[in-house]
Amino acid sequence: MPTVTLAATPPRGASAIDIPTPSTAVSKLPADKKRAAKLQGFEGKPGQALVLAGNGSGPVEVLVGLGKPSEITIDRIRQAAAAYARAVSKHEHVACTLAAGIGGVEATAAIPAVTEGMRLATYRFTTYKADSPVKLKKITLIASGRGLRASLSTANAIVDAVTLARDLGNEPGGSLTPQVFATRAKRLATKTGIKVTVWDEARIRRERLGGLLAVNQGSENPPRFLTVRYVPTGRKPKANLALVGKGITFDSGGLSLKNPNGMVTMKVDMAGGAAVLAAMSALPAVDAPVAVTGFIPLSDNMTGGAAQRPGDVFTARNGKTVEVLNTDAEGRLILADALAVAAEGEPDAIIDIATLTGSASVALGAGIAALMSTDDKLATRLEQASGRSGEKLWRLPLPSEYRSQIDSTIADLKNIGSGPYGGTLVAGLFLKEFTDKRPWAHIDMGMAAFSDSDRGLVVKGGTGFGVRVLIDTLANW
Ligand code: BES
Ligand code: MN
Ligand code: ZN
Repeated sequence: MPTVTLAATPPRGASAIDIPTPSTAVSKLPADKKRAAKLQGFEGKPGQALVLAGNGSGPVEVLVGLGKPSEITIDRIRQAAAAYARAVSKHEHVACTLAAGIGGVEATAAIPAVTEGMRLATYRFTTYKADSPVKLKKITLIASGRGLRASLSTANAIVDAVTLARDLGNEPGGSLTPQVFATRAKRLATKTGIKVTVWDEARIRRERLGGLLAVNQGSENPPRFLTVRYVPTGRKPKANLALVGKGITFDSGGLSLKNPNGMVTMKVDMAGGAAVLAAMSALPAVDAPVAVTGFIPLSDNMTGGAAQRPGDVFTARNGKTVEVLNTDAEGRLILADALAVAAEGEPDAIIDIATLTGSASVALGAGIAALMSTDDKLATRLEQASGRSGEKLWRLPLPSEYRSQIDSTIADLKNIGSGPYGGTLVAGLFLKEFTDKRPWAHIDMGMAAFSDSDRGLVVKGGTGFGVRVLIDTLANW
Protein backbone atom coordinates (compact mmCIF):
# COMPACT_ATOMS: atom_id res chain seq x y z
CA MET A 1 0.00 0.00 0.00
CA PRO A 2 1.34 3.44 -0.94
CA THR A 3 2.59 5.97 1.59
CA VAL A 4 1.31 9.54 1.41
CA THR A 5 3.43 12.64 2.05
CA LEU A 6 3.03 16.39 1.62
CA ALA A 7 5.01 18.82 -0.54
CA ALA A 8 4.55 22.44 -1.60
CA THR A 9 5.54 21.79 -5.21
CA PRO A 10 5.41 18.72 -7.50
CA PRO A 11 8.35 16.39 -6.69
CA ARG A 12 10.82 15.41 -9.41
CA GLY A 13 10.27 11.68 -9.04
CA ALA A 14 6.52 11.67 -9.74
CA SER A 15 5.55 10.15 -13.10
CA ALA A 16 1.89 11.26 -13.04
CA ILE A 17 -0.05 14.31 -11.97
CA ASP A 18 -3.78 15.06 -11.94
CA ILE A 19 -5.66 17.90 -13.56
CA PRO A 20 -8.85 18.31 -11.46
CA THR A 21 -11.54 18.93 -14.06
CA PRO A 22 -15.10 19.93 -13.18
CA SER A 23 -17.54 19.31 -16.05
CA THR A 24 -17.64 23.03 -16.88
CA ALA A 25 -13.85 23.10 -17.30
CA VAL A 26 -13.67 20.58 -20.14
CA SER A 27 -14.52 23.15 -22.81
CA LYS A 28 -11.82 25.49 -21.47
CA LEU A 29 -9.00 22.94 -21.75
CA PRO A 30 -6.15 23.63 -24.22
CA ALA A 31 -7.05 22.39 -27.71
CA ASP A 32 -5.05 19.14 -27.64
CA LYS A 33 -6.44 18.11 -24.25
CA LYS A 34 -9.95 19.09 -25.23
CA ARG A 35 -9.66 16.91 -28.31
CA ALA A 36 -8.40 13.92 -26.32
CA ALA A 37 -11.27 14.38 -23.87
CA LYS A 38 -13.84 14.52 -26.65
CA LEU A 39 -12.44 11.49 -28.48
CA GLN A 40 -12.42 9.37 -25.34
CA GLY A 41 -15.70 10.46 -23.86
CA PHE A 42 -14.28 12.37 -20.90
CA GLU A 43 -16.92 14.87 -19.80
CA GLY A 44 -15.62 15.77 -16.36
CA LYS A 45 -18.17 13.53 -14.68
CA PRO A 46 -17.50 12.29 -11.16
CA GLY A 47 -15.65 8.98 -11.28
CA GLN A 48 -14.07 9.68 -14.69
CA ALA A 49 -10.29 9.76 -15.07
CA LEU A 50 -8.51 10.09 -18.39
CA VAL A 51 -4.80 9.46 -18.74
CA LEU A 52 -3.42 11.81 -21.40
CA ALA A 53 -0.55 10.62 -23.57
CA GLY A 54 2.40 12.77 -22.48
CA ASN A 55 4.95 14.30 -24.82
CA GLY A 56 7.72 12.07 -23.54
CA SER A 57 9.06 14.35 -20.84
CA GLY A 58 7.63 15.26 -17.44
CA PRO A 59 4.83 13.46 -15.65
CA VAL A 60 1.83 11.99 -17.44
CA GLU A 61 -1.23 14.19 -16.96
CA VAL A 62 -4.57 12.75 -15.89
CA LEU A 63 -7.88 14.56 -16.23
CA VAL A 64 -9.96 13.82 -13.13
CA GLY A 65 -13.71 14.48 -13.33
CA LEU A 66 -15.48 16.35 -10.53
CA GLY A 67 -18.94 17.05 -11.99
CA LYS A 68 -20.66 20.39 -11.51
CA PRO A 69 -18.54 22.89 -9.55
CA SER A 70 -21.48 23.71 -7.27
CA GLU A 71 -21.74 20.02 -6.32
CA ILE A 72 -18.15 19.41 -5.26
CA THR A 73 -18.26 17.86 -1.81
CA ILE A 74 -15.75 16.01 0.32
CA ASP A 75 -17.17 12.72 -0.88
CA ARG A 76 -16.83 13.84 -4.52
CA ILE A 77 -13.16 14.53 -3.88
CA ARG A 78 -12.78 11.15 -2.19
CA GLN A 79 -14.34 9.40 -5.18
CA ALA A 80 -12.32 11.46 -7.68
CA ALA A 81 -9.11 10.60 -5.83
CA ALA A 82 -10.07 6.92 -5.99
CA ALA A 83 -10.63 7.14 -9.77
CA TYR A 84 -7.30 8.93 -10.20
CA ALA A 85 -5.42 6.35 -8.11
CA ARG A 86 -6.95 3.49 -10.13
CA ALA A 87 -5.91 5.18 -13.39
CA VAL A 88 -2.29 5.52 -12.24
CA SER A 89 -1.99 2.29 -10.25
CA LYS A 90 0.86 1.04 -12.47
CA HIS A 91 2.98 4.11 -11.60
CA GLU A 92 5.29 3.93 -8.59
CA HIS A 93 5.26 7.57 -7.56
CA VAL A 94 2.48 10.04 -8.36
CA ALA A 95 1.60 13.59 -7.37
CA CYS A 96 -1.89 14.82 -6.54
CA THR A 97 -3.10 18.42 -6.60
CA LEU A 98 -6.70 17.65 -5.62
CA ALA A 99 -5.53 17.79 -2.02
CA ALA A 100 -4.94 21.54 -2.24
CA GLY A 101 -8.69 21.98 -2.00
CA ILE A 102 -11.23 22.74 -4.70
CA GLY A 103 -14.78 24.05 -4.80
CA GLY A 104 -15.74 25.03 -1.27
CA VAL A 105 -13.55 22.31 0.26
CA GLU A 106 -10.40 23.45 2.07
CA ALA A 107 -7.10 21.62 2.07
CA THR A 108 -7.48 20.42 5.68
CA ALA A 109 -10.64 18.57 4.57
CA ALA A 110 -9.43 17.65 1.10
CA ILE A 111 -6.27 15.97 2.37
CA PRO A 112 -8.08 13.26 4.35
CA ALA A 113 -10.52 12.76 1.46
CA VAL A 114 -7.72 12.31 -1.07
CA THR A 115 -5.71 10.10 1.26
CA GLU A 116 -8.70 7.85 1.87
CA GLY A 117 -9.70 7.76 -1.78
CA MET A 118 -6.25 7.04 -3.18
CA ARG A 119 -5.06 4.57 -0.57
CA LEU A 120 -8.30 2.63 -0.22
CA ALA A 121 -8.92 2.29 -3.96
CA THR A 122 -5.46 0.81 -4.43
CA TYR A 123 -5.64 -1.55 -1.46
CA ARG A 124 -4.87 -5.18 -2.32
CA PHE A 125 -4.74 -8.28 -0.11
CA THR A 126 -1.39 -9.74 -1.11
CA THR A 127 -0.66 -12.21 1.71
CA TYR A 128 -1.01 -15.17 -0.64
CA LYS A 129 0.09 -13.51 -3.88
CA ALA A 130 3.59 -13.40 -5.33
CA ASP A 131 2.96 -10.08 -7.05
CA SER A 132 0.53 -7.19 -6.61
CA PRO A 133 -1.18 -5.71 -9.69
CA VAL A 134 -0.86 -2.31 -7.98
CA LYS A 135 2.62 -0.77 -8.29
CA LEU A 136 1.85 2.50 -6.51
CA LYS A 137 4.29 3.09 -3.64
CA LYS A 138 4.39 6.80 -3.09
CA ILE A 139 1.76 9.55 -3.30
CA THR A 140 2.83 13.17 -2.89
CA LEU A 141 0.01 15.58 -2.09
CA ILE A 142 0.71 19.06 -3.40
CA ALA A 143 -0.58 21.45 -0.76
CA SER A 144 0.75 24.01 1.67
CA GLY A 145 -0.64 25.74 4.74
CA ARG A 146 -1.24 25.30 8.43
CA GLY A 147 -2.46 22.12 10.09
CA LEU A 148 -2.06 19.98 6.98
CA ARG A 149 0.46 17.60 8.48
CA ALA A 150 -1.88 16.78 11.36
CA SER A 151 -4.82 16.18 9.05
CA LEU A 152 -2.68 13.87 6.91
CA SER A 153 -1.50 11.85 9.88
CA THR A 154 -5.00 11.24 11.28
CA ALA A 155 -6.18 10.34 7.76
CA ASN A 156 -3.35 7.83 7.47
CA ALA A 157 -4.31 6.29 10.83
CA ILE A 158 -7.91 5.93 9.67
CA VAL A 159 -6.86 4.29 6.41
CA ASP A 160 -4.54 1.97 8.35
CA ALA A 161 -7.55 0.94 10.42
CA VAL A 162 -9.69 0.22 7.35
CA THR A 163 -6.77 -1.74 5.91
CA LEU A 164 -6.61 -3.86 9.04
CA ALA A 165 -10.35 -4.61 8.84
CA ARG A 166 -10.02 -5.52 5.16
CA ASP A 167 -7.03 -7.77 5.85
CA LEU A 168 -8.98 -9.59 8.57
CA GLY A 169 -12.04 -9.87 6.30
CA ASN A 170 -9.98 -11.29 3.45
CA GLU A 171 -8.08 -13.82 5.56
CA PRO A 172 -9.53 -17.31 4.96
CA GLY A 173 -11.73 -18.88 7.64
CA GLY A 174 -9.26 -21.74 7.99
CA SER A 175 -6.39 -19.45 8.93
CA LEU A 176 -8.19 -16.70 10.85
CA THR A 177 -9.51 -18.80 13.73
CA PRO A 178 -10.74 -17.17 16.95
CA GLN A 179 -7.32 -17.85 18.51
CA VAL A 180 -5.48 -16.22 15.62
CA PHE A 181 -7.84 -13.22 15.67
CA ALA A 182 -7.15 -12.82 19.40
CA THR A 183 -3.39 -13.03 18.91
CA ARG A 184 -3.50 -10.38 16.20
CA ALA A 185 -5.62 -8.13 18.42
CA LYS A 186 -3.07 -8.48 21.23
CA ARG A 187 -0.22 -7.57 18.89
CA LEU A 188 -2.18 -4.56 17.62
CA ALA A 189 -2.78 -3.37 21.18
CA THR A 190 0.93 -2.99 21.95
CA LYS A 191 1.36 -1.04 18.70
CA THR A 192 -1.52 1.42 19.02
CA GLY A 193 -2.10 2.05 22.72
CA ILE A 194 -5.45 0.33 23.23
CA LYS A 195 -5.89 -2.46 25.78
CA VAL A 196 -7.02 -5.95 24.77
CA THR A 197 -8.20 -8.66 27.18
CA VAL A 198 -8.85 -12.20 25.96
CA TRP A 199 -11.18 -14.74 27.58
CA ASP A 200 -10.42 -18.35 26.65
CA GLU A 201 -12.97 -21.17 26.57
CA ALA A 202 -12.76 -21.97 30.30
CA ARG A 203 -13.33 -18.34 31.20
CA ILE A 204 -16.18 -18.07 28.69
CA ARG A 205 -17.81 -21.04 30.43
CA ARG A 206 -17.32 -19.50 33.87
CA GLU A 207 -18.83 -16.27 32.56
CA ARG A 208 -21.87 -18.21 31.27
CA LEU A 209 -21.73 -16.98 27.67
CA GLY A 210 -24.25 -19.63 26.64
CA GLY A 211 -24.86 -18.29 23.12
CA LEU A 212 -21.19 -18.23 22.20
CA LEU A 213 -20.73 -21.75 23.59
CA ALA A 214 -23.83 -23.04 21.78
CA VAL A 215 -22.57 -21.75 18.43
CA ASN A 216 -19.08 -23.10 19.12
CA GLN A 217 -20.28 -26.65 19.93
CA GLY A 218 -19.85 -27.86 16.34
CA SER A 219 -16.31 -26.55 15.99
CA GLU A 220 -12.79 -27.89 16.52
CA ASN A 221 -11.61 -24.32 17.15
CA PRO A 222 -12.21 -23.01 20.67
CA PRO A 223 -14.06 -19.68 21.04
CA ARG A 224 -12.58 -16.45 22.30
CA PHE A 225 -14.15 -13.32 23.78
CA LEU A 226 -12.22 -10.08 23.42
CA THR A 227 -12.58 -6.88 25.39
CA VAL A 228 -10.89 -3.81 23.95
CA ARG A 229 -10.48 -0.61 25.95
CA TYR A 230 -9.69 2.97 24.98
CA VAL A 231 -9.60 5.90 27.40
CA PRO A 232 -8.73 9.46 26.28
CA THR A 233 -5.57 10.81 27.86
CA GLY A 234 -5.48 13.85 30.09
CA ARG A 235 -9.19 14.65 30.25
CA LYS A 236 -12.51 13.44 31.53
CA PRO A 237 -14.30 11.34 28.89
CA LYS A 238 -17.41 13.00 27.44
CA ALA A 239 -19.21 9.65 27.60
CA ASN A 240 -18.74 5.98 28.29
CA LEU A 241 -19.58 3.94 25.23
CA ALA A 242 -19.69 0.28 24.28
CA LEU A 243 -19.08 -1.24 20.86
CA VAL A 244 -20.01 -4.82 20.02
CA GLY A 245 -18.95 -6.66 16.84
CA LYS A 246 -19.97 -10.05 15.45
CA GLY A 247 -16.92 -12.27 15.14
CA ILE A 248 -17.96 -15.40 13.25
CA THR A 249 -14.67 -16.41 11.62
CA PHE A 250 -16.53 -18.70 9.22
CA ASP A 251 -20.26 -19.31 8.87
CA SER A 252 -21.18 -22.66 7.31
CA GLY A 253 -24.69 -22.27 8.74
CA GLY A 254 -24.10 -25.14 11.16
CA LEU A 255 -26.54 -28.06 10.89
CA SER A 256 -28.96 -25.68 9.15
CA LEU A 257 -26.28 -25.79 6.49
CA LYS A 258 -25.94 -23.05 3.88
CA ASN A 259 -25.84 -24.01 0.22
CA PRO A 260 -22.39 -23.90 -1.44
CA ASN A 261 -22.96 -20.48 -2.99
CA GLY A 262 -24.19 -18.98 0.24
CA MET A 263 -21.01 -20.10 1.97
CA VAL A 264 -18.32 -18.73 -0.34
CA THR A 265 -18.07 -15.28 1.22
CA MET A 266 -18.67 -16.39 4.80
CA LYS A 267 -15.05 -15.92 5.88
CA VAL A 268 -16.11 -12.27 6.14
CA ASP A 269 -18.68 -13.01 8.87
CA MET A 270 -16.30 -11.53 11.45
CA ALA A 271 -16.39 -8.14 9.73
CA GLY A 272 -18.32 -6.55 12.60
CA GLY A 273 -15.69 -7.69 15.10
CA ALA A 274 -12.94 -6.51 12.76
CA ALA A 275 -14.64 -3.11 12.41
CA VAL A 276 -14.79 -2.69 16.19
CA LEU A 277 -11.14 -3.69 16.69
CA ALA A 278 -9.94 -1.60 13.75
CA ALA A 279 -11.95 1.50 14.66
CA MET A 280 -10.69 1.33 18.23
CA SER A 281 -7.09 1.03 17.05
CA ALA A 282 -7.43 4.51 15.50
CA LEU A 283 -8.99 6.21 18.54
CA PRO A 284 -5.64 7.27 20.07
CA ALA A 285 -4.57 8.81 16.74
CA VAL A 286 -7.81 10.76 16.30
CA ASP A 287 -7.78 11.66 20.00
CA ALA A 288 -11.41 10.63 20.52
CA PRO A 289 -12.99 12.38 23.54
CA VAL A 290 -14.94 9.34 24.79
CA ALA A 291 -14.06 6.20 26.74
CA VAL A 292 -14.89 3.12 24.68
CA THR A 293 -15.08 -0.57 25.52
CA GLY A 294 -15.31 -2.99 22.61
CA PHE A 295 -16.67 -6.53 22.92
CA ILE A 296 -15.91 -9.13 20.26
CA PRO A 297 -17.30 -12.69 20.60
CA LEU A 298 -15.37 -15.07 18.30
CA SER A 299 -16.28 -18.52 16.99
CA ASP A 300 -16.79 -20.28 13.70
CA ASN A 301 -20.17 -21.87 12.98
CA MET A 302 -19.51 -25.49 12.02
CA THR A 303 -21.23 -28.88 11.79
CA GLY A 304 -19.11 -31.16 14.04
CA GLY A 305 -20.69 -34.08 15.90
CA ALA A 306 -21.36 -31.99 18.98
CA ALA A 307 -22.98 -29.18 16.99
CA GLN A 308 -26.15 -27.67 18.38
CA ARG A 309 -29.30 -29.11 16.83
CA PRO A 310 -32.28 -27.17 15.58
CA GLY A 311 -34.61 -27.24 18.57
CA ASP A 312 -31.88 -27.06 21.22
CA VAL A 313 -32.19 -24.50 24.01
CA PHE A 314 -29.40 -22.54 25.70
CA THR A 315 -29.31 -19.95 28.47
CA ALA A 316 -27.71 -16.64 27.52
CA ARG A 317 -25.54 -14.47 29.75
CA ASN A 318 -28.52 -12.40 30.95
CA GLY A 319 -30.46 -15.53 31.99
CA LYS A 320 -32.88 -15.59 29.05
CA THR A 321 -33.39 -18.97 27.40
CA VAL A 322 -33.31 -19.27 23.62
CA GLU A 323 -34.68 -22.02 21.40
CA VAL A 324 -32.43 -22.33 18.36
CA LEU A 325 -34.68 -23.27 15.44
CA ASN A 326 -32.14 -22.35 12.77
CA THR A 327 -28.44 -22.74 13.54
CA ASP A 328 -27.65 -20.36 10.65
CA ALA A 329 -29.11 -17.48 12.67
CA GLU A 330 -25.97 -17.72 14.84
CA GLY A 331 -24.74 -14.12 14.84
CA ARG A 332 -27.56 -13.00 17.11
CA LEU A 333 -26.70 -15.79 19.57
CA ILE A 334 -23.13 -14.67 20.15
CA LEU A 335 -24.18 -11.01 20.08
CA ALA A 336 -26.82 -11.73 22.72
CA ASP A 337 -24.09 -12.59 25.23
CA ALA A 338 -21.81 -9.75 24.13
CA LEU A 339 -24.61 -7.16 24.36
CA ALA A 340 -25.51 -8.43 27.82
CA VAL A 341 -21.90 -8.12 28.98
CA ALA A 342 -21.72 -4.65 27.43
CA ALA A 343 -24.92 -3.55 29.19
CA GLU A 344 -23.57 -4.71 32.57
CA GLY A 345 -20.96 -1.94 32.30
CA GLU A 346 -23.85 0.58 32.28
CA PRO A 347 -22.53 2.51 29.26
CA ASP A 348 -24.21 5.69 28.02
CA ALA A 349 -24.80 3.96 24.69
CA ILE A 350 -24.16 0.66 22.94
CA ILE A 351 -23.46 0.35 19.22
CA ASP A 352 -23.24 -3.07 17.63
CA ILE A 353 -22.16 -3.91 14.10
CA ALA A 354 -22.62 -7.24 12.33
CA THR A 355 -23.03 -9.11 9.06
CA LEU A 356 -26.29 -10.28 10.55
CA THR A 357 -28.82 -10.91 7.78
CA GLY A 358 -28.87 -11.41 4.03
CA SER A 359 -32.22 -9.58 4.12
CA ALA A 360 -30.44 -6.29 4.91
CA SER A 361 -28.92 -6.41 1.43
CA VAL A 362 -32.19 -7.59 -0.13
CA ALA A 363 -33.70 -4.35 1.18
CA LEU A 364 -30.82 -1.91 0.66
CA GLY A 365 -28.41 -3.48 -1.81
CA ALA A 366 -24.82 -4.35 -1.01
CA GLY A 367 -23.56 -0.77 -0.61
CA ILE A 368 -25.81 0.46 2.20
CA ALA A 369 -26.06 -0.92 5.73
CA ALA A 370 -29.21 -1.00 7.84
CA LEU A 371 -29.34 1.06 11.03
CA MET A 372 -31.81 0.33 13.83
CA SER A 373 -31.93 2.15 17.13
CA THR A 374 -33.92 2.58 20.33
CA ASP A 375 -32.56 6.11 20.67
CA ASP A 376 -33.15 8.87 18.10
CA LYS A 377 -30.24 10.99 19.29
CA LEU A 378 -27.83 8.09 18.93
CA ALA A 379 -29.26 7.24 15.50
CA THR A 380 -28.79 10.86 14.42
CA ARG A 381 -25.15 10.84 15.54
CA LEU A 382 -24.55 7.77 13.39
CA GLU A 383 -26.45 9.21 10.43
CA GLN A 384 -24.40 12.40 10.59
CA ALA A 385 -21.16 10.43 10.78
CA SER A 386 -22.41 8.37 7.84
CA GLY A 387 -22.95 11.55 5.81
CA ARG A 388 -19.45 12.81 6.58
CA SER A 389 -17.64 9.52 6.06
CA GLY A 390 -19.53 8.43 2.96
CA GLU A 391 -20.29 5.01 4.47
CA LYS A 392 -24.01 4.77 3.89
CA LEU A 393 -26.49 3.83 6.61
CA TRP A 394 -30.26 3.79 6.26
CA ARG A 395 -32.51 3.61 9.29
CA LEU A 396 -35.06 0.83 9.60
CA PRO A 397 -37.65 0.45 12.38
CA LEU A 398 -37.80 -1.92 15.34
CA PRO A 399 -41.56 -2.59 15.12
CA SER A 400 -43.04 -3.84 18.38
CA GLU A 401 -45.84 -5.55 16.45
CA TYR A 402 -43.26 -8.03 15.11
CA ARG A 403 -41.91 -8.87 18.56
CA SER A 404 -44.27 -11.85 18.98
CA GLN A 405 -42.54 -13.54 16.04
CA ILE A 406 -39.69 -14.50 18.34
CA ASP A 407 -41.92 -15.92 21.10
CA SER A 408 -41.00 -19.57 21.66
CA THR A 409 -43.31 -22.38 22.79
CA ILE A 410 -40.75 -23.82 25.18
CA ALA A 411 -38.22 -21.03 25.92
CA ASP A 412 -38.17 -17.26 26.51
CA LEU A 413 -37.26 -16.59 22.88
CA LYS A 414 -36.68 -18.36 19.60
CA ASN A 415 -33.94 -17.26 17.26
CA ILE A 416 -35.89 -16.84 14.00
CA GLY A 417 -39.12 -15.14 12.94
CA SER A 418 -42.20 -16.83 11.59
CA GLY A 419 -41.88 -16.18 7.87
CA PRO A 420 -39.64 -15.04 5.04
CA TYR A 421 -40.24 -11.30 5.47
CA GLY A 422 -38.61 -8.61 7.59
CA GLY A 423 -35.67 -10.79 8.63
CA THR A 424 -33.47 -7.79 9.38
CA LEU A 425 -36.05 -6.25 11.72
CA VAL A 426 -36.73 -9.53 13.52
CA ALA A 427 -32.99 -9.97 14.08
CA GLY A 428 -32.87 -6.43 15.48
CA LEU A 429 -35.79 -7.14 17.80
CA PHE A 430 -34.01 -10.28 19.01
CA LEU A 431 -30.84 -8.34 19.88
CA LYS A 432 -32.86 -5.68 21.68
CA GLU A 433 -33.80 -8.30 24.31
CA PHE A 434 -30.18 -8.27 25.51
CA THR A 435 -29.51 -4.54 25.74
CA ASP A 436 -31.11 -4.02 29.16
CA LYS A 437 -32.91 -0.88 27.91
CA ARG A 438 -29.66 1.01 27.35
CA PRO A 439 -29.59 3.51 24.44
CA TRP A 440 -28.62 1.18 21.65
CA ALA A 441 -27.97 1.22 17.91
CA HIS A 442 -27.52 -1.77 15.65
CA ILE A 443 -25.77 -1.75 12.26
CA ASP A 444 -26.56 -4.71 10.03
CA MET A 445 -24.02 -4.64 7.21
CA GLY A 446 -25.40 -7.59 5.28
CA MET A 447 -23.22 -7.87 2.16
CA ALA A 448 -21.74 -4.38 2.57
CA ALA A 449 -18.79 -6.12 4.25
CA PHE A 450 -17.81 -7.89 1.04
CA SER A 451 -17.64 -6.61 -2.53
CA ASP A 452 -17.65 -8.63 -5.73
CA SER A 453 -16.37 -5.69 -7.75
CA ASP A 454 -13.98 -2.72 -7.64
CA ARG A 455 -16.06 0.44 -7.21
CA GLY A 456 -15.39 3.79 -5.56
CA LEU A 457 -13.19 3.32 -2.51
CA VAL A 458 -13.96 -0.37 -2.40
CA VAL A 459 -12.08 -3.22 -4.05
CA LYS A 460 -13.10 -6.86 -4.49
CA GLY A 461 -13.25 -8.74 -1.19
CA GLY A 462 -13.48 -7.43 2.36
CA THR A 463 -14.50 -3.76 2.35
CA GLY A 464 -13.70 -2.75 5.92
CA PHE A 465 -17.19 -1.25 6.04
CA GLY A 466 -18.09 0.45 9.29
CA VAL A 467 -14.60 1.40 10.40
CA ARG A 468 -14.80 4.99 9.13
CA VAL A 469 -18.35 5.65 10.27
CA LEU A 470 -17.54 4.31 13.76
CA ILE A 471 -14.35 6.37 14.05
CA ASP A 472 -16.19 9.47 12.86
CA THR A 473 -19.01 8.91 15.36
CA LEU A 474 -16.61 8.52 18.28
CA ALA A 475 -14.16 11.25 17.26
CA ASN A 476 -16.98 13.80 16.93
CA TRP A 477 -18.95 12.82 20.04
N1 BES B 1 -23.86 -14.29 8.22
C1 BES B 1 -25.18 -14.51 7.81
C2 BES B 1 -25.82 -13.27 7.18
C3 BES B 1 -25.31 -12.90 5.82
C4 BES B 1 -25.66 -13.65 4.72
C5 BES B 1 -24.52 -11.78 5.69
C6 BES B 1 -25.21 -13.28 3.49
C7 BES B 1 -24.06 -11.42 4.45
C8 BES B 1 -24.41 -12.17 3.36
C9 BES B 1 -26.07 -14.86 9.01
O1 BES B 1 -25.45 -15.60 9.99
C10 BES B 1 -27.18 -15.69 8.47
O2 BES B 1 -26.93 -16.75 8.00
N2 BES B 1 -28.40 -15.16 8.54
C11 BES B 1 -29.54 -15.83 8.04
C12 BES B 1 -30.63 -15.69 9.06
C13 BES B 1 -31.81 -16.58 8.81
C14 BES B 1 -31.44 -18.03 9.02
C15 BES B 1 -32.90 -16.19 9.76
C16 BES B 1 -29.92 -15.20 6.72
O3 BES B 1 -29.78 -13.99 6.56
O4 BES B 1 -30.29 -15.94 5.81
MN1 MN C 1 -25.51 -17.67 9.61
ZN1 ZN D 1 -23.43 -15.40 10.15
